[in-house]
Amino acid sequence: MSAPPKLQRLREMTNALPVQDFEDEDEEEGRGGIRNCESSVPEVRNHSAILRPTPIRNLNGAQGPPSHSLPASHSILSLLTNSIAMKLKTIEDLLHHELKDLFSAENQLVKALPKMAKAANNSELQEGFEEHLEQTKTHVERLEKIAEILDIKLSGMTCKAMKGLVEEGAEMIDEDAETHVKDAGLIGAAQRVEHYEIAGYGTAKALALQLGHDDVADLLEETLDEEKDTDAKLTEIAEAVLEEHHAEG
Ligand SMILES: [Fe+2]
Ligand SMILES: [Fe+2]
Repeated sequence: MSAPPKLQRLREMTNALPVQDFEDEDEEEGRGGIRNCESSVPEVRNHSAILRPTPIRNLNGAQGPPSHSLPASHSILSLLTNSIAMKLKTIEDLLHHELKDLFSAENQLVKALPKMAKAANNSELQEGFEEHLEQTKTHVERLEKIAEILDIKLSGMTCKAMKGLVEEGAEMIDEDAETHVKDAGLIGAAQRVEHYEIAGYGTAKALALQLGHDDVADLLEETLDEEKDTDAKLTEIAEAVLEEHHAEG
């Protein structure tokens, strides 16, 4: 396959880019989504043909780029990869990352839970959501306290997983369903949220303990216990909702 004109010009200018070699590598590894995308977008293909070898090799943990390619420092993707690696260089960095994620998650929930409460038909479920909203505000405050202890900022990050979970909750709110079915669906969405939080707080607590931040770990454990309690309460309410419907039927 002949190289596109731009790439051909670049090759002539640098005399250092054996594009055919890269294409051969792709043939061995199979044609992934990136390559398919490049095939249909010539401009992207031209650039990524230059950038591709270095980041892939680094991400795979293999030896550095071949001597005939551009140095790693010339690759934008490689710079990006390095900057991420630098941010999470230590377990302390990872703890801060986890806390930022949780801070974003909790703040998203402060906005979402009133909508869940409004959509709930069962009064116990409605109260459960309202009660957990108040707890969630406390969770945000605890994280702010932790940020003070560790002297870090928690803003500036979006928890994409919670964004997705909240979107799924919103879809359930909009479903045209029987009351008990809607309630059971809302509980399912809420429990997915709780399990995500339980995983996040469990991880953060373990990291804090590992780093000797016992005061931080205690605060995280308080929230972790409340998330577990909420999850258990939701299970109880779900059983009550379904049994009630069964008895009525
Ligand atoms: Fe929470
Ligand atoms: Fe929660």
